[in-house]
Amino acid sequence: MHAIYPGSFDPVTMGHIDIILRAAAQFDELTVAVLINHNKKGLFTIEERLDLLRESLKEYPEIKIESFSGLLIDYAAKKGEPVILRGLRAISDFENEMQLALANKNSNRNIETLFMVSNPKYSFLSSSLIREIAAFQGDVSNLVPPAVEKALRLKYKEGL
Ligand code: PNS
Repeated sequence: MHAIYPGSFDPVTMGHIDIILRAAAQFDELTVAVLINHNKKGLFTIEERLDLLRESLKEYPEIKIESFSGLLIDYAAKKGEPVILRGLRAISDFENEMQLALANKNSNRNIETLFMVSNPKYSFLSSSLIREIAAFQGDVSNLVPPAVEKALRLKYKEGL
């Protein structure tokens, strides 16, 4: 079975990596898909996010890393209707995720959304929290892959 794990990944965190590696052990094929969102600038460019994912997952060449634009469900249809995988950190994620999953199901009933429960070690973690800590030179070394830590340091040294 093929799964796609979509997200903004601005930047990828250890919470994402944990889900990705656990998913890679469950599915025959896994594609990590970075949303190209023209309305939201973000901290890292799409190319930088892809590079950080590639660097962080370089020991797992079987995991595919791609970007997509437009609707997730249209991208998934083009990929042969894989399962959509989303992580759930806490009950606060549930409402949004349920809405996304039901909207996607309404558009294409062949595509299922599956949820994987986040590792409690990282259940408080989000990319926006990482950006905020890093912006004030806080320590994120145990929360993001080493390549991301370095990229954050450079980004904030450059003054954005
Ligand atoms: O990492 P995120 O920001 O929680 O990921 C959200 C994502 C990319 C999965 C979601 O925003 C998405 O699928 N966007 C693509 C546009 C789309 O299909 N929107 C849902 C329409 S109901």
